[in-house]
Amino acid sequence: MCGIIGFCGYLDAKEELIKGLAELEYRGYDSAGIACYTDRGIEVIKSVGKVEGLKNKLPAKLESSCGIGHTRWATHGGVSEVNAHPHRSGNVTLIHNGIIENYHELAKELEGMGKIPVSQTDTEIAAMLLDSLYESNQGNVLETLRGAVERLEGAYAFCIMFADQKDVIYCIRKGSPLVCCSSEEGSIVASDMVALLRYSKEYFVLPEFQVAKVTKNTITVMDLDGTVVSPVMLSVHWDMSAAQKNGFKHYMLKEIHEQPEAIRRTLAPRMKKGNYLLPDFTEDGITDEVFKNTNRVVITACGTAMHAGMAGKILMEKLLRIPVQVEIASEFRYADPILDENTLVILVSQSGETADTLAALRLAREKGAKTLSIVNVKGSSIARESDYVLYTHAGPEIAVASTKAYTAQLTAFYLLAFRFAYVIGKRNEQEISYYMKGLDEVGALMEKVLEQKDKMKELSKRLTPAQDLFFIGRSLDYALACEGSIKLKEITYIHSEAYAAGELKHGTLSLVTGGVPVIALATQSDVFAKMISNVKEVRARGAMVILITKEDNDAVIENTIFDERLMIPAGDDIFAPFTAAIILQLLAYYTSSYRGLDVDQPRNLAKSVTVE
Ligand code: M6R
Repeated sequence: MCGIIGFCGYLDAKEELIKGLAELEYRGYDSAGIACYTDRGIEVIKSVGKVEGLKNKLPAKLESSCGIGHTRWATHGGVSEVNAHPHRSGNVTLIHNGIIENYHELAKELEGMGKIPVSQTDTEIAAMLLDSLYESNQGNVLETLRGAVERLEGAYAFCIMFADQKDVIYCIRKGSPLVCCSSEEGSIVASDMVALLRYSKEYFVLPEFQVAKVTKNTITVMDLDGTVVSPVMLSVHWDMSAAQKNGFKHYMLKEIHEQPEAIRRTLAPRMKKGNYLLPDFTEDGITDEVFKNTNRVVITACGTAMHAGMAGKILMEKLLRIPVQVEIASEFRYADPILDENTLVILVSQSGETADTLAALRLAREKGAKTLSIVNVKGSSIARESDYVLYTHAGPEIAVASTKAYTAQLTAFYLLAFRFAYVIGKRNEQEISYYMKGLDEVGALMEKVLEQKDKMKELSKRLTPAQDLFFIGRSLDYALACEGSIKLKEITYIHSEAYAAGELKHGTLSLVTGGVPVIALATQSDVFAKMISNVKEVRARGAMVILITKEDNDAVIENTIFDERLMIPAGDDIFAPFTAAIILQLLAYYTSSYRGLDVDQPRNLAKSVTVE
């Protein structure tokens, strides 16, 4: 949430900052701003709306080789120019990602000293505090930052410019992410790796409570007592094209198409062919002991990642016959959960930075549970703090609506469930080999569904005028219905709900009236007949039914019970969520396009949710 960038180097700072902000815009896009050191002092330019608007506002003459930039997702204070970052107070100009929880108390204190903010933001209060500490510490930066760390509560990643220290940026963070790299062009810091890719594939994550002093030639990392430390270097394998649209109209459409490849990349390092095809986590450092000593699994995550967990639970309970629970991370963290050393807590996160999931992880560790995370972004906080990490290799996901990360997370769950079932003796080599073969074929099946995208495009025209819409399903189809529903509502703004099909008649059926679209998933043989009864119930109330079934379903389905029928390729039922997900993603995508909406950056949302 909020994108931040700092550049100090040998290129035109304003241009580099604008490029970086455009790449980070998916983290927040209600206003943007930059601050640059110039011969006339620090100049700040801000604007409401997208980065393009800020770019058009920049003065032609803004000569600078060092500056900071911010793209905002509003937390405290509405969307306005005065609330946009950077914020300035006396000697201090800064940008911030996070939330200062005790800003009210600090504001009162500062008010007592005659310092009154001009904006409604928590960030300006932080700038005022830093300025006051800088003054009382006679310009000693480390003393100033130490003082600020003691006083500030909440989460933050700051890039700070001091007016009397030209061409130097100081960074410090707690909770919110910040990555840094050095290259021939200069030194760069940003909220995520996507904005560093144009300079380098080698980077480091600034550790919490350490200070990065960023100058043209170098980034010095030190403890708050001034001891210089060497950061742990990481590298990514993607290149710039992975983070570009590559001819697609939107990132979301591109990412939907990348799914077969994302799954293959996630599978490849864990597919070691021997006599039997068993998942192999040697390279991930996940030993069989992890599974042997587990008698209960708790999965916790937010949004789409949580929906992947819902599918994971169904699969795991089916194969393992041990209790598996799924919890929304924001609830889990305050629920005083019952955990012990035999509980395996699985955290799922594309970004690896989601504040609630990170807090859930910390709580699980505190309570002595084993933690394993399924994460896409290498070196992210959740990955670093978990006992074990299983990386998905989906590549950078830029669209706010998650697609390839979701199916890559499913892949990770399937791999875990298969290995776990094998290790605890619930399934033998032949059985696991059969499942692994099925998983290996999923990419090709997804490609077949993608070939039919024009059908979904055409069908979306019928959904475009809808005001309400329902997704129904049972078992794995219900888990997928939840995902279909969030996808549709977040980018089309159509009110939608996902229901376990059998639960409809306990209340929600009253909302199903003539012409209301119902997307019914019926891919699971064991509940197929029940599901068709539920479809008939909504049909009897006049619903416009889109039925999704498998090609190899040989049950006789009267064509009077649906308006449209879409089919996913034949195969074991457990793999149906992968292919059916593509249908739901494409329906959401095309409906949003027909409604003329901003598919990649829907209103009020942001990609990485680093606030509670
Ligand atoms: O980065 P994470 O996977 O932890 O993010 C969790 C959710 O914020 C995310 O999945 C969100 O629900 C998606 N935008 C939905 O498409």
